[in-house]
Amino acid sequence: MQSLKEKIEQLKQEIAAVVPASADELEQYRIKFLGTKGIVKEIFGEMKNVPKELKKEAGQMLNGFKQAAEAKFEEYKYLQNSKAKKDDGIDKTLPGTPIAEGSRHPLRMVENQMVSILEKIGFSVATGPEIEDDWHNFTSLNMPEHHTARDMQDTFYVQQNPDWVLRTHSSSTQSRVMEQTKPPIRVICPGRVYRNETISARAHCFFHQIEGLYIDKNVSFADLKQTLYYFVKEMFGEHTKVRFRPSYFPFTEPSAEMDISCTVCGGSGCALCKKTGWVEILGCGMVHPNVLRNFDIDPDVYTGFAFGMGVERITQIKYQVNDLRLYSQNDVRFLKQFQPL
Ligand code: DAH
Repeated sequence: MQSLKEKIEQLKQEIAAVVPASADELEQYRIKFLGTKGIVKEIFGEMKNVPKELKKEAGQMLNGFKQAAEAKFEEYKYLQNSKAKKDDGIDKTLPGTPIAEGSRHPLRMVENQMVSILEKIGFSVATGPEIEDDWHNFTSLNMPEHHTARDMQDTFYVQQNPDWVLRTHSSSTQSRVMEQTKPPIRVICPGRVYRNETISARAHCFFHQIEGLYIDKNVSFADLKQTLYYFVKEMFGEHTKVRFRPSYFPFTEPSAEMDISCTVCGGSGCALCKKTGWVEILGCGMVHPNVLRNFDIDPDVYTGFAFGMGVERITQIKYQVNDLRLYSQNDVRFLKQFQPL
């Protein structure tokens, strides 16, 4: 028994010293220790000479030895794989196939920029559903059923429920915000909107808007103008001129549309501004008292302004994109021209 113990200790040391450097050396080790005629087998054979009362102890010792021999083999087993791979004929030093990097969609880039400009002056982002009910999209915004202003926006109705529409403008989210929060309110609502238009270079059945809403005591048209002046200078540069034209929207009174001096020709006249020197970018106005009343906001205490603008329109002006369809065709030749702002 003593001699068996010594023999095992010696073999364990021998195993510990083995460092196979190749699959061949590992195989030699395996044959020597773990093979059918290997040392482990041989030494297990000596169990029969161990006296009965020592068999248990000897068994444990032998098992420990066998595990040590196997563990060494497992540790270097990866050498077998490296041999297999070495012969697979693949030259791993060759450069790989380049993976094309994606980029943000131009509309998303411009939307992000618009949002961050307005966030800087205290607007926070609110979102709402794209499938909207009649109340939030129309009625609450001073456009009751049969109101002719509904004709301004060709609507997609949801067949399953006559009360549902695909929202025609982001103004529906301002209704939801007024419903859920008490003034002061200062939000912007970016999102996709839908209109039943035939798709062409100049019209699409879906596009994107950003709505702005500010309600507090003493909010005036001057605040609206200052907010939009600031936005335009940040978005299009210090020298951009701005003008307001009276307009009509049912949810604002007074209402206006805002133009900026053409960023392409600087005002002298070109295709983008249709030779007028001005391009329209948004609709705006003071929130109509009826709209405030619809949300239990007292128009004698609070006033507010709202504005709504198209992200495609702003992108078109910034990058001179002349066909709205390009935004949704996923043509990488178009998409990869836009560098991060
Ligand atoms: N909702 C209008 C549209 O889609 C845009 C708009 C005009 C929004 C005036 C406003 C506003 O908030 O005050 O045509």
